[in-house]
Amino acid sequence: MQDTLSEIERAALKSLESVNDPSALEAWRVANLGRSSALMNVFSGLGKLSKEERPVIGAAANRVKVALESALEERSRLVKAVALARSLEEDHIDVTLPGRRKHVGRLHPSTQQLRRVLDILAEMGFQVFTSREVETDEYNFQLLNFPPHHPARDMQDTLFIEAEGRGDNPIIMRTHTSPGQIHAMRQFAATNPQDPPPIRIALPGMCFRYEQITVRSEVQFNQVEGLAVGKNITFADLKGTLTDFVRRMFGEGTRLRFRASYFPFTEPSAEVDVECFVCGGKGCQVCKNSGWLEILGCGMVHPVVLQNGGYDPRVYSGYAWGMGPERQLMLRHKVSDIRYFWGNDVRFLEQF
Ligand code: DAH
Repeated sequence: MQDTLSEIERAALKSLESVNDPSALEAWRVANLGRSSALMNVFSGLGKLSKEERPVIGAAANRVKVALESALEERSRLVKAVALARSLEEDHIDVTLPGRRKHVGRLHPSTQQLRRVLDILAEMGFQVFTSREVETDEYNFQLLNFPPHHPARDMQDTLFIEAEGRGDNPIIMRTHTSPGQIHAMRQFAATNPQDPPPIRIALPGMCFRYEQITVRSEVQFNQVEGLAVGKNITFADLKGTLTDFVRRMFGEGTRLRFRASYFPFTEPSAEVDVECFVCGGKGCQVCKNSGWLEILGCGMVHPVVLQNGGYDPRVYSGYAWGMGPERQLMLRHKVSDIRYFWGNDVRFLEQF
């Protein structure tokens, strides 16, 4: 029996020498120390031995078991070390190679400018109010004091969504952000119809027009509309607000001028020009030698529009303006073609 044990030990240790990976290690453990291994058979046969033999063989079998277990442990350490060394060798990183450039996403220039404008207006106390892009003729035109055949409608060629069966109120894409004025006023007025609260909001968003796409006109563009309604609001407030806005937007010393103009939804109406920031007012190609750049339309909210919004024009007054972030960017960065904005050319977009 002693000889059998010595043979078991010798054979096991010998076969362990060729074990080189974790799965072979496990197979070796099952074969040599597992329940049906030769060594375990010796343990289970101990009961059949004589009283004298039993302790001697038992002790010897134990010694073999301990020897095999420690040999297994040692071999397993060796296998792990070899595997680690190999992976370090095979997977090593060549730190001298140039890195791969990661392309990081960025905000579209229009979005950047839109946010800049809204940040400034927020500092000035204007809350953002978003309004729908798909409108009705009623909100886009009629309630803003454009009667059905008013010539001012020619200023804005409209994209129709659904006209059939809707008479003089087709569903259209909004041609400007001004219909948001009506939605906002009605929403604010509904909170207290007898004494509607004052309003000071900025209305940003995409507008759509049925236009021939050219260097200067696109079928879609953003606008930001401003609206303030309250008691005792005057044209002086409009001038003060827009002067403050222009200086925050284009620089402290920027000069601006108000030019009389016409919009159906404001009375009186004006357009604002800023001193050309390319030539400083001396006259250049960008300002077409006038020294001025037109940046927005504005005016005192027309009494009919106030009325349509639920604000009594005998008690309330207000001012509004509308401007285009893409136009501001074009002027600011001398972008010569508006089509770049939706052209999806990263060489253009990456410059902002
Ligand atoms: N809605 C006008 C347009 O798209 C811009 C505008 C002009 C908005 C005067 C206003 C305003 O609120 O008072 O051309």
